[in-house]
Amino acid sequence: SSRVLKRQCFQRPATRVRGALLYPDTIPFSLIPLAVLAESAELNGDEGRAVAFRRSEALLRSLDRRVQGVAELRGLPCLGEHSRRVIQDVLDNGESSEVEETKSSSRYKAMKVLTGIFGVGVKTAKRWFTEGICSLAQLETSGHTLNPAQQAGLKYYADLNQPVTRDEADAISVTVEEAVCSVLPGAQVTLAGGFRRGKTSGHDVDFLITHPDEGKEEGLVHKVTACLESRGVLLYHQTTRNTYQESPEGAGRSRSNMDRFERCFSILKLVQEQAKDQDPVQVEADQTDSGCRPWRAVRVDLVVSPISQFAFALLGWTGSKLFEREMRRWAVHEKSMSLSSHALYDNNQKRYLTASSEEEIFAHLGLEYVSPSGRNA
Ligand code: GTP
Ligand code: MN
Ligand code: MN
Repeated sequence: SSRVLKRQCFQRPATRVRGALLYPDTIPFSLIPLAVLAESAELNGDEGRAVAFRRSEALLRSLDRRVQGVAELRGLPCLGEHSRRVIQDVLDNGESSEVEETKSSSRYKAMKVLTGIFGVGVKTAKRWFTEGICSLAQLETSGHTLNPAQQAGLKYYADLNQPVTRDEADAISVTVEEAVCSVLPGAQVTLAGGFRRGKTSGHDVDFLITHPDEGKEEGLVHKVTACLESRGVLLYHQTTRNTYQESPEGAGRSRSNMDRFERCFSILKLVQEQAKDQDPVQVEADQTDSGCRPWRAVRVDLVVSPISQFAFALLGWTGSKLFEREMRRWAVHEKSMSLSSHALYDNNQKRYLTASSEEEIFAHLGLEYVSPSGRNA
């Protein structure tokens, strides 16, 4: 089965025709039946179930033929009994009753609205839902004290729930590059996340920053945010310093998915093109009306990596989350290695394997290289 997993998850060409019967290109991702069930499981805090649905959903997306009946799915990995039943339902009836019920349940709807607030996770949303809070209005009148992230999340709710386009990501890239290079000439800024995988929209814009002289990148995030702030485009930021040196993961024993890079979760102000020449006073006055102000808020992640860990950081921050998960599983189960966004440790040789490119990491793992656009699992 490891052979099959490898074939299914890593060796597929970049572009595939979707299983058309289930996934016509016109269907938004959120309406894909198995993705709804995965999301619902996530919102219930059931990680195991969520991953199972995510894997079946990714497998279906990777098929190079139309699926006409479940019999065609025989022998494929990652497709459990439950997923097959849902697919059968969709094929027979055009929709799955379980999916439709999930989508219309008040719990699912409320959890989606509440976790749609930046800074609100499943645990918090669950607690609020149990108290009868189902909408933003109810949250606002509930008297709950929100932390700074959640306050910003509520303030810019509409903007942050509107997908970021590729053009907007490019415009943000210019702003970030200008800021980074003005505080540290020679620093390199790389677009990571979904946009590096070729996605045309995303929920945020992810940047990985490094400098060819190791050490020069230390403390960079603070300088960059100070610069962005002085330019009036920093709406919110929360900075975390690098803690890797204090307690490196050792042989990848850390179970947490979080890495230890210096980073900043931020919200930036993206001034829309046609509005750039406008009187700044007018721009300020428009702030209260999110509908017609000439800028929008965009979630931006800045991650700073020392050059020696850059290839691992780039691989880790390019995603997708499911692809990363499968790759780390492959490393552990097939190669007895521990892969993180910082390093690759060989448990047999008891040493770290270095890499200066993503290609070298795939080679260490005995895998064919997969370009970013092939990592949209
Ligand atoms: P959208 O932003 O929704 O369009 O998709 P995305 O794939 O860009 O997702 P996201 O911005 O959430 O994350 C980008 C990549 O960074 C994913 O592969 C994540 O696994 C990874 N990532 C996000 N947060 C962390 C973290 O704290 N640690 C590590 N190691 N990786 C992270
Ligand atoms: Mn992203
Ligand atoms: Mn991100």
